[in-house]
Amino acid sequence: MFDFMVKNASLPDGKVGMDVGCKNGIITAIERNISAEAKETIDADGLLLAPPFIDPHFHMDATLSLGTPRLNKSGTLLEGISLWGELKPVQTIDDIIERSLRYCDLAVSMGIGAIRSHVDTCDDELKGVQALLEVKKQIKDYIDLQLVAFPQDGLYRAPKALENTIRALDLGVDIVGGIPHFERTMSEGAQSIKTLCEIASERGLLVDMHCDETDDPMSRHIESLAYETQRLGLQGRVAGSHLTSMHSMDNYYVSKLIPLIVEAEVHAIPNPLINIMLQGRHDTYPKRRGQTRVRELRDAGVLTGFGSDCVMDPWYSLGKADMLDVAFMGLHVGQLSSREDMAWCFEAVTTNSASIMHLEGYGLSKGSKANFNLLQAKDPIEAIRLRAHRLAIVRGGRLIAKNTHLAANLFIDGRPDIVDPASYAPSQD
Ligand code: FE2
Repeated sequence: MFDFMVKNASLPDGKVGMDVGCKNGIITAIERNISAEAKETIDADGLLLAPPFIDPHFHMDATLSLGTPRLNKSGTLLEGISLWGELKPVQTIDDIIERSLRYCDLAVSMGIGAIRSHVDTCDDELKGVQALLEVKKQIKDYIDLQLVAFPQDGLYRAPKALENTIRALDLGVDIVGGIPHFERTMSEGAQSIKTLCEIASERGLLVDMHCDETDDPMSRHIESLAYETQRLGLQGRVAGSHLTSMHSMDNYYVSKLIPLIVEAEVHAIPNPLINIMLQGRHDTYPKRRGQTRVRELRDAGVLTGFGSDCVMDPWYSLGKADMLDVAFMGLHVGQLSSREDMAWCFEAVTTNSASIMHLEGYGLSKGSKANFNLLQAKDPIEAIRLRAHRLAIVRGGRLIAKNTHLAANLFIDGRPDIVDPASYAPSQD
């Protein structure tokens, strides 16, 4: 007798007609035609059952603050940072908790199972840190929240940022962050990487740095991040977020750089929605795309996962916790249009990001945690195409959110008709 069962599901690996049985919060069987009973059963009706969406890069302390105290007129990263600087002193810990919990409700309903959120560590009160440590506790049964100590205004540029970042880690923040391209000089940027990686090494922590989020091709901090990772033996434990300057770098230099990143086993976290919006703002035409070299990094063997970065905050006015929006944009900006590439984009918001975050028990396999989403699509490519409706969200073998099927109004042969958007399966290659 199972606690929970899903019948007749399609899986991301292409298997169809699969039943998934769960007991005590664990997947204990995945096979066809399971005959045993379950206390609760849902019929997938041939639709896609996938592991939860994973967001490896977010800013929960800023989310849903759009328009407070004003809007970002230039649309640039730098105006976003100064706008956030205006909000920080006037917001309270309770404000941050309230906005974060509202966002987490939305994220759960959209099938996000884990979020890595950077949290600003530059204010002496550590308001964001206190708020998000509380949020992490409150949502633990629904979302795994990892926190990154993030000296937003620069480790050396902001007074007491280093001291406050260490305090944040002492309070229980999980991961060491940084922002080398925002330090005053290239050398202080490099020094910040060295200092922060040493802190992570001493404490046995992971590292995730905002790195080279700029159009300046000379912003080469990823090189220092790879070097320090190797020097300190942190291979596999470090991620570079954004890496947008790589888009603008000289090809010859990149041909040397990517093998260094591979050698150091540094992971990459592009944030397609935000960077296509923020980057290239100083360009006339042609205007550069704001995304790192996703295809080249992936093909070289760099573990790459897409993050959402922002939802309705000083940097980005849109967003709805939809990791399929993120995959959709990453696919377009990276011109990842082959069937294999599109399927990979689904992995970039699920399995790849789970590996970057070192999540345990993730995935649809026997012995994994019974966490998964039923999507109104037949396969991962269709899920991205439709930004598929989430029909059921299961966590710990328990249904925690559900929706009914959504029908779309389409016009066929001039006649209006109501159809299931997932009923149009593409012909196979
Ligand atoms: Fe970010």
